[in-house]
Amino acid sequence: MTCLPGQPCEEGRKRRTAMMALGMMAAIFIALSVASFTRSRGQVTPDAVHYGAYDAVQGKRVFQGYNCMGCHTLLGNGAYFGPDLTDVYEQAGPAWLEAFLPSAGGWPTGPAVQVQLQKAAVAADAGASGLDDYLKRYAGAAERVQRRGGQVSHMPNLPLTGEQVGQLIAFLKYTSAMNTEGWPPKPKVDGLASPLAWRAPASSAAATTAPAAAAAPAGNDPVAAGATLVKDFACASCHALDRSKLVGPGWGGLAGSQVALAGGGSAVADDAYLAESIRAPDAKVVAGFAAGTMPSYATMLTDDQVKAIVAYIRSLPGDGQ
Ligand code: HEC
Ligand code: HEC
Repeated sequence: MTCLPGQPCEEGRKRRTAMMALGMMAAIFIALSVASFTRSRGQVTPDAVHYGAYDAVQGKRVFQGYNCMGCHTLLGNGAYFGPDLTDVYEQAGPAWLEAFLPSAGGWPTGPAVQVQLQKAAVAADAGASGLDDYLKRYAGAAERVQRRGGQVSHMPNLPLTGEQVGQLIAFLKYTSAMNTEGWPPKPKVDGLASPLAWRAPASSAAATTAPAAAAAPAGNDPVAAGATLVKDFACASCHALDRSKLVGPGWGGLAGSQVALAGGGSAVADDAYLAESIRAPDAKVVAGFAAGTMPSYATMLTDDQVKAIVAYIRSLPGDGQ
């Protein structure tokens, strides 16, 4: 620190230079730190993602609550029983997910997706109005409907409420919007290796493109026509044809029986009740089930089609099967 007597002393100048260099480094460090918080770069995770009134954060809680990770991967993390879900929203879209999640034990058919598009919020989020438009926009939905529509799936039915379904879709929308730099490597429709995947029945393939064509030609046997409609609309992914409970009540022996309603009271399952249950499922809710699970088919089924389905339900015996 000391200068020798008689020597030129440079110490002060050197110290000033060092302090200036240090100050400059500090300034650069602070400037870069500030820059790292600006939005100049592409964000890896989107900020706030909503699906209708639902928030992705709520959806993450539902995802954890049902332990979806126990069977699925997200971004490669999780278990490998079910397919990776990171991009499923982007591939299949909201209407397909609305149709699949409440009754995951069965794969949605075209009309099952179409009935979801009747809801304004779903159509708005999808950015598609009709089914054809939707299937063009979401190629993954078209592929799933075509290959597996109407068949049983390997995922169990989970007791999700309508609200939880919306929240889960918000969360899956969020994961789809993340910049994962190409992960998962090749977007693919999983489960295609399953032998079930290649048994696309003619009826479900036809139902993909021409749902209304399933209408019973006048004069046909209404019970047979009803059976076809039930298959095309995938009602059986929620309703068993015998008495067993799936997502909704079983249909076996339902017609003419006394049905206990949620909130007390009961109703006789006559033709008018059955027709109302199809057109306005929330008008009378069966005890033990939640309103909002079954979509309304009011705008999708003609009066004759509803009559045919009612005739079919009436034909189902209550015992033995
Ligand atoms: C017990 C295991 C299990 C649980 C728990 C489970 N899944 Fe699945 N899930 C599966 C299987 C298996 C498949 C594939 C079905 C098939 O290919 O037939 C599947 C398929 C799916 C698909 C369709 C994927 C595609 O690419 O077509 C979605 C979406 C999905 N599950 C969402 C969920 C969500 C959300 C949860 C939690 C609320 C959940 N799953 C919980 C087993 C499960
Ligand atoms: C996503 C699942 C789901 C789908 C798909 C579905 N339903 Fe339902 N359905 C339910 C639930 C849950 C209930 C009970 C709650 C209620 O009464 O709304 C129900 C109730 C009913 C009832 C009254 C049953 C009773 O015991 O009183 C009838 C009839 C019915 N559905 C017919 C249909 C028909 C026909 C279709 C296809 C065109 C269909 N459902 C599609 C879930 C579904």
